[in-house]
Amino acid sequence: MAKSVKHRTKVVLAYSGGLDTSVAIPWLGERYDADVTCLTVDVGQQGELKGALDRAKLNGAADARLVDAKATFVSDFLWPAVQANALYQGVYPLSTALARPLIAQTLAEVAVASHADAVAHGCTGKGNDQVRFDVAIHTLAPQLRVIAPVREWNMNREDEIRYAEQRRLKIRVTAASPYSVDENLWGRSIEGGRLEDPDAAAPEEVFDWTGHPDQWPREPEELTVGFEQGVPVSIDDHRRAPVELVREMNERAGRHGVGRIDHVEDRVVGIKSRETYECPGAIALLEAHRAIETLVLPRDLLQFKGLVDRRFSDLVYEGLWFSPLREALQAFIASTQEVATGSVRLRLFQGSVRAVGRTSEYSLLAPELATYGTASRFPQELAVGFIHLYGLPNQLAHARRAAARASRVGTKRAARQVLPTA
Ligand code: ARG
Repeated sequence: MAKSVKHRTKVVLAYSGGLDTSVAIPWLGERYDADVTCLTVDVGQQGELKGALDRAKLNGAADARLVDAKATFVSDFLWPAVQANALYQGVYPLSTALARPLIAQTLAEVAVASHADAVAHGCTGKGNDQVRFDVAIHTLAPQLRVIAPVREWNMNREDEIRYAEQRRLKIRVTAASPYSVDENLWGRSIEGGRLEDPDAAAPEEVFDWTGHPDQWPREPEELTVGFEQGVPVSIDDHRRAPVELVREMNERAGRHGVGRIDHVEDRVVGIKSRETYECPGAIALLEAHRAIETLVLPRDLLQFKGLVDRRFSDLVYEGLWFSPLREALQAFIASTQEVATGSVRLRLFQGSVRAVGRTSEYSLLAPELATYGTASRFPQELAVGFIHLYGLPNQLAHARRAAARASRVGTKRAARQVLPTA
């Protein structure tokens, strides 16, 4: 007689090779009776991804796959972020936040194509990343169940290490580090361990892409970033493929210690936490982009775009990448970028990056108007009338209030002149 075969749950796990997701493989098997496919999405994290896949199989994964998403990451996520001058709370270039929707999207695609029942990720229940993953999966593939082992189990890091030892799991040595690190082309996020005390300076050991301050060159270095329609296309007049361009910026700016960020951040779940980042290339490219925009965008557009940029950054941080509002804001931003074409000279020195030169055929800085020299064609005589009308509302309001105050206390005052004499 044929036995009815119980369907084993099929889960695709977003797998980094770190401690949490390594422990999740046997845990999903035990807890959910699941066959686990590990999926590593390459968004430019360093380290040996192939080795991680081999370990996944040794640790019990039915399958382990790698998807190279670097080019898409740059073209569809990082370049729009550059065009949006995207910084959360004015300081964080959203490196982790920008990669999450792409990883989630890839996870959903692989899960749907392989007829999986669920996806899993290694996020805790306290952070933003769970929000970004879950919202993206619910949006793109609502039929999939989302399992978050770390959020469900009650293990701390020591418990995880013990669990891994009991099951003789192959764990990367660095998995025992006290810090939680997330990495991609746009930067590194480091949290946990001694960094949890916001009053303690980040120890040098948390940094990797920026050398030790003793090694930062004593001389400044300049480099030129070329832009076409708000997108970086070259460094020092050499055209670069997008992924290579970001890598080169990370190296060159990182060598000077650019892009270390120490921030007390407000998470979506309502808590503040101390966050440390290393984003040399991002900070340098954002500085360059900001500089070209100041040259080519008119004042009102710059000001309004600043509001849109901020809203875009908040949406990315808050896990709402797959939203009509993000698409609409991005379309607005893109419509402003045709003129963001030209080049910016950056100076890198001792942990800082500054734009020291900018040029564009769309420059709105008209020398004949701006110069203090004899070549000036600015009609200064018109300034007087302009200023009278410009200040008239304030002059009127001030006069009315002064008059009302005077009549309240009964002092007789000569009526004040409101209209200009000129
Ligand atoms: N606070 C940052 C963000 O929400 C970084 C999170 C990094 N995750 C990590 N596992 N270290 O985007």
